[in-house]
Amino acid sequence: MSNTQTLVAASPPLTQTALLLHAPRTRYALTDAHPVPALRRRDEVLVRVTHVGLNPIDWKSADFGFGLPALPAVNGRDLAGVVVALHPDAPDAPLPSASASASASASASRSTEDGARTFRVGDRVFGPSTQYRDARTSAFQSYAVTQAHCLARVPAGLAPAAACAVGVGAVTAMLALGSSLGVPLGEGGFSTRGVAVGAEGEEPAWGRREQPGSVFDKIGSVFSNIFSTPRPSKPKAGEWLLIWGASAVTGFFAAQFALLAGMRVIAVVDAQRHGERLRSIGIQHIIDRAVPADAIAEVRALTRGKLRYAIDCVGQATAQHAIDALDTAPATQTHIVGLTGLPREAPANVELCVVPIKTFHTNPRVGAGLTRILEDLLARGKLVLPPVEVLDGGLGAINDALDRLRRGEVGGGRLVVRLEAESGAGAETTADIPVVRLEADTAAQTAENSSA
Ligand SMILES: NC(=O)c1ccc[n+]([C@@H]2O[C@H](COP(=O)([O-])OP(=O)(O)OC[C@H]3O[C@@H](n4cnc5c(N)ncnc54)[C@H](OP(=O)(O)O)[C@@H]3O)[C@@H](O)[C@H]2O)c1
Repeated sequence: MSNTQTLVAASPPLTQTALLLHAPRTRYALTDAHPVPALRRRDEVLVRVTHVGLNPIDWKSADFGFGLPALPAVNGRDLAGVVVALHPDAPDAPLPSASASASASASASRSTEDGARTFRVGDRVFGPSTQYRDARTSAFQSYAVTQAHCLARVPAGLAPAAACAVGVGAVTAMLALGSSLGVPLGEGGFSTRGVAVGAEGEEPAWGRREQPGSVFDKIGSVFSNIFSTPRPSKPKAGEWLLIWGASAVTGFFAAQFALLAGMRVIAVVDAQRHGERLRSIGIQHIIDRAVPADAIAEVRALTRGKLRYAIDCVGQATAQHAIDALDTAPATQTHIVGLTGLPREAPANVELCVVPIKTFHTNPRVGAGLTRILEDLLARGKLVLPPVEVLDGGLGAINDALDRLRRGEVGGGRLVVRLEAESGAGAETTADIPVVRLEADTAAQTAENSSA
C-alpha cells in the first residue's frame, strides 16, 4: 500500500527525518531522506511524531546490540503526536479515488477502529511501541505507524510532553501486575489474563522455574512464550507488594496500579531523593536501598516474613535481594517479576516471572484494555505522572540525551525530546508540564545499576 492511498488530513511527505542506527556501538545518525512508513493494515494509523520519550532500552539496544532485527535500525519506544492518516480500508474511509484535497476534508470526520479503539485524523495521541521488529512503529522518526489498539488519546489539558512519558512505563507496569502477577487493573478491575490468548489457567506462559541468565537479559520477553506458568496467582486486596527500585518510572506506575487494586506497597529506593515523591502517591512504606541486607531485614520485619509478591526494576542483583525478602515457607507460592533480569536459580517456592510485553500489540483486547484504562485514569486525574525534562533540538538532540541516561544521570523521570511544538487545547505550557532538570546522584550509583 503506497502512502498516496491513505486517508489523510494533508498528504504526508514521501520522505522524512529519522534517526538511524547503522551498527551496534555507534552513534545514531540523522537523515532527512528516510521513507515515511506505509499503512499496511486497516487497523493502522499514521502519527506525526511531536515528542519522543527516552527509555533505557534506547541506549542499551544500541550499546549491547539487541532488539536490532535489521540495520540500519530505527529505535525509540515512546511517542506522542497527532494522527495524520488512516488506512483507506478503515471503517468509513472514502473511496481511494477521492482527490487528496477531498480526502483531507472528509478525513476530519472519518475514523478507524480495531476492536474498541477508534481514532480520527487530528487526534492527539500517545503510546509505546512494543514492536521493535517493525521499524514503522518506532519513535525516532517524524512519522510512525501504530496499530489503533496501541494508542491512547491525550486527554484535554494534558501536555503531550507529559503524556509521552507514560507509555512504556505504564504499559510495562500494568502487564507486570496484570499478566505476570494476576492483579486486577484500573478502577474496573480489568484482567489482562482474562482476555489473553490462552486465557487464565490455560498456560499463559508468563512465569517459569528457571532462567537462561544473561541471554534472557538481552532478549527479554521473547523467551517468555516458551515457558509455562505453573500456578496463576491472584493477589488479594491488602496483600503486600515489594517494588525494588520503585523510583524507576515503571516502578512508579506499578506502585500506583497496585495501590488502586488495594495492595500495600513497599518501595525500596534512595529514600532521601525519592521518598517524598513516592509518599505523595500513597506509598506508606519507603525503605532506603543503601544497605540491601538492612532493606531485606526491614521488609521481612514489616511483612512478618509473609511477603508473596515482588517486582524488581533494576537488575539481577536487586532481584535476588527481593527474592531474599519473600516468604521462605516451602508451601507458600511466591512470585517475583524481573523487568531487567532474574537470578538463574531461586528457591522452589519462588515463581520467576517476566513481562509479556508483546501481548500489548499482539492481542488487541489486551492493548485496547490497557490504553482505555490509561485514558480513563488520565482524564480523571487519577494517575500521577513522572517528572519530565523537555529537550529541544528535535531528533538531533537524542544522542546527547541518551549519553545522560548511559551515565546514570537521569533518575526518577523521563527525558522527552520535542520534535515540534503543539498549539491549541492541551498544548504544552510551562504551567502544565512537571518540567524539571533530572539529575541523579551519580556518585551513589552502584555497579549493578550501570550493568542493569
Ligand atoms: N521487560 C520489559 O519489557 C521492560 C520494559 C520497560 C523497562 N524495562 C527495564 O526496566 C528497568 C527500569 O526501567 P525504567 O525506565 O522504569 O527505569 P528508569 O526510570 O530509568 O529508572 C531507573 C531507576 O532505578 C533506580 N535504581 C538504580 N539502581 C538501583 C538500586 N541498586 N536499587 C534501587 N533502585 C535503583 C534508579 O534510582 P536513582 O534515581 O536513585 O538513581 C532509577 O530511579 C530498565 O532496566 C528497563 O530497561 C523492561
